[in-house]
Amino acid sequence: MLCNKNMYTCAVVLAFLLASVSIDRIDGAPDGAPLGACATMTPGHGVDPQLINSSPFKTEIPSGEYAIMDNTLNLELRSKNDVTTYKGFLVMAFDKNDATNTPIGTFKLPSDGKVIDCSGIVGSAATHKFNNEKKLTTVQWTPPKNFMGTAIFRTTYVHNVTTFWVKTESIAVTYVMELPTSSTQAPVATTPSSASQLSKTWISLITFSLMAYLMR
Ligand SMILES: *[C@@H]1O[C@H](CO)[C@@H](O)[C@H](O)[C@H]1NC(C)=O
Repeated sequence: MLCNKNMYTCAVVLAFLLASVSIDRIDGAPDGAPLGACATMTPGHGVDPQLINSSPFKTEIPSGEYAIMDNTLNLELRSKNDVTTYKGFLVMAFDKNDATNTPIGTFKLPSDGKVIDCSGIVGSAATHKFNNEKKLTTVQWTPPKNFMGTAIFRTTYVHNVTTFWVKTESIAVTYVMELPTSSTQAPVATTPSSASQLSKTWISLITFSLMAYLMR
């Protein structure tokens, strides 16, 4: 077998295979917001968005307006009346006190959708993968390491090609060291990050290739 004869070639081939798989996953999907829509969060449908206050959809954070530093949040992208459906969505997190409009943190595990890299930041947004009619999508978001500010989530919901709501806002979630005593919210459980596991895999692969190369 190739791998027994030449470890270096084997590692390189494997690395390329893995790289092409992850590129396909981002660019080759049949649907979802394109990276060009990241800045405005507006679909290129050529019609005006609906008034934001009339949105039949909302992005809920069941754990409430406080979260412990570094803890992952669960988001729910919902139909308010449980009847009206959305075909598409794009959600990003922002620092409420930063006007630069740069998304923060990383998304993972959308129940119906995929994670994309807006503003060149890995995993900074989640969008739909197929344009099936949805009433609820759950997704997890992890803040930047040691983030102690206030995060707000902006979501664009697409009901159909002519009817969509741009940048609907969630409640603000403030990251703290300890929950305020007046709060009855339980701390949110942290879940192991699959993203960090992925990068660990990459690091070991690269290290392995290097070692194999040096030890030829
Ligand atoms: C989009 O949805 C609106 C509201 O439900 C509806 O009035 C309109 O006819 C729909 N447009 C298309 C192109 O389906």
